[in-house]
Amino acid sequence: MVSTIRNLALAPEGHLKINWVKEHMPVLNEVAREFRQTKPFSGVRIAICLHLEAKTAYMAKVLQESGAEVTITGSNPLSTQDDVAAALVEDGITVHAWHNATEEEYNDHLHKTLQCQPHLIIDDGGDLVAMLHNHYPHLLPQVEGGAEETTTGVIRLRAMAAAGALKIPMIAVNDAYCKYLFDNRYGTGQSVWDGIMRSTNLVVAGKVVVVIGYGWCGKGVAMRAKGLGARVVVCEVDPIKAVEAVMDGHDVMPLIEAAKIGDVFITVTGCSEVITTQHFLNLKDGAILCNAGHFDVEIDKPALRKLAGEPTLVRRNVEAYEFNGKKIYLLAEGRLVNLAAADGHPAEIMDMSFALQVEALHYLRQNHGSLSAGVLKLPQQVDEKVAWRKLAALNISIDTLTEKQKKYLNSWQ
Ligand code: ADE
Repeated sequence: MVSTIRNLALAPEGHLKINWVKEHMPVLNEVAREFRQTKPFSGVRIAICLHLEAKTAYMAKVLQESGAEVTITGSNPLSTQDDVAAALVEDGITVHAWHNATEEEYNDHLHKTLQCQPHLIIDDGGDLVAMLHNHYPHLLPQVEGGAEETTTGVIRLRAMAAAGALKIPMIAVNDAYCKYLFDNRYGTGQSVWDGIMRSTNLVVAGKVVVVIGYGWCGKGVAMRAKGLGARVVVCEVDPIKAVEAVMDGHDVMPLIEAAKIGDVFITVTGCSEVITTQHFLNLKDGAILCNAGHFDVEIDKPALRKLAGEPTLVRRNVEAYEFNGKKIYLLAEGRLVNLAAADGHPAEIMDMSFALQVEALHYLRQNHGSLSAGVLKLPQQVDEKVAWRKLAALNISIDTLTEKQKKYLNSWQ
């Protein structure tokens, strides 16, 4: 199928970006070295819906070199990089995505992607799998399974499974240790600040930063805010996570109180309507709002527009909303600030996440016929294989238990 991209002439810049990340993804390079020879995906069609930037592109190329026919779309209208999309097309991968797609175009790109009639799927956020079940049920019997990248997607898949609607095995890659411990915490922690700093060019030290949601992503964002010299306030609904935030040295309070003192607000909850009218009314003049959750539903944009009318673009990725004599700034239209205003997680982090993705698809292939529909855990050995490879890439060796120690640990006496 012909690709649907903005401009093929942008490919040279895209190739540069892909080559750079490749140099910094040693674990994925090891997987590639193995699978280039064994070609486990020969004759297999893979449909991917991920943030279409350089690391994703490199993984798509690894799958292609491992024998697959790859079709890819973006998982967020603002995270697609047109130069990277063009480079992939030059390399023989079918791409349906462009930056700043309208909702209609975004959906059209997903439809086109599924029309490749995939055997395997990689999804980020659950849109592709939901569309597969809602619009292409006739394709389900040939789909061997899929892998989901993110917390929001896994939550959505579990809801599908609970309703009896999920008809294929889906591996929750997000729940692997080598995913959430590093990608969600250190990846989001760094890339969110990359996005905020690139879009605002303002200082973080001395500011009151309000982190809303203290899951693995929130913990990373708060940790890095503290490292940059901010005073961190955490808002939570879960009492255990709230205690954890206190013990980590942060202030904890309800958002309605934090609204009055915060300089920068970051939503990382995965939930909708988190910052709403009551909070907007209490914000200080000049407060900056942004989101790092998968969907742009955490900051209530319709309510903000109702209060302030149309915003003005004051800088790339910074919109000012004016009401009651104050200006409130919204970054990246309330979409994932780390991907819409920056390049997503660092390459060395996505190295592990994407090695897990490729291994997850390999596992689905190898076990095709014996896996039942539902949300599956990635086997521990696969997680450990990635960790061992990461240690090797870092040139770090670790200790091993002696036989006597193993015996001790297995004895109850
Ligand atoms: N790059 C590609 N996919 C990503 C993700 N899910 N999060 C951050 N950066 C990414």
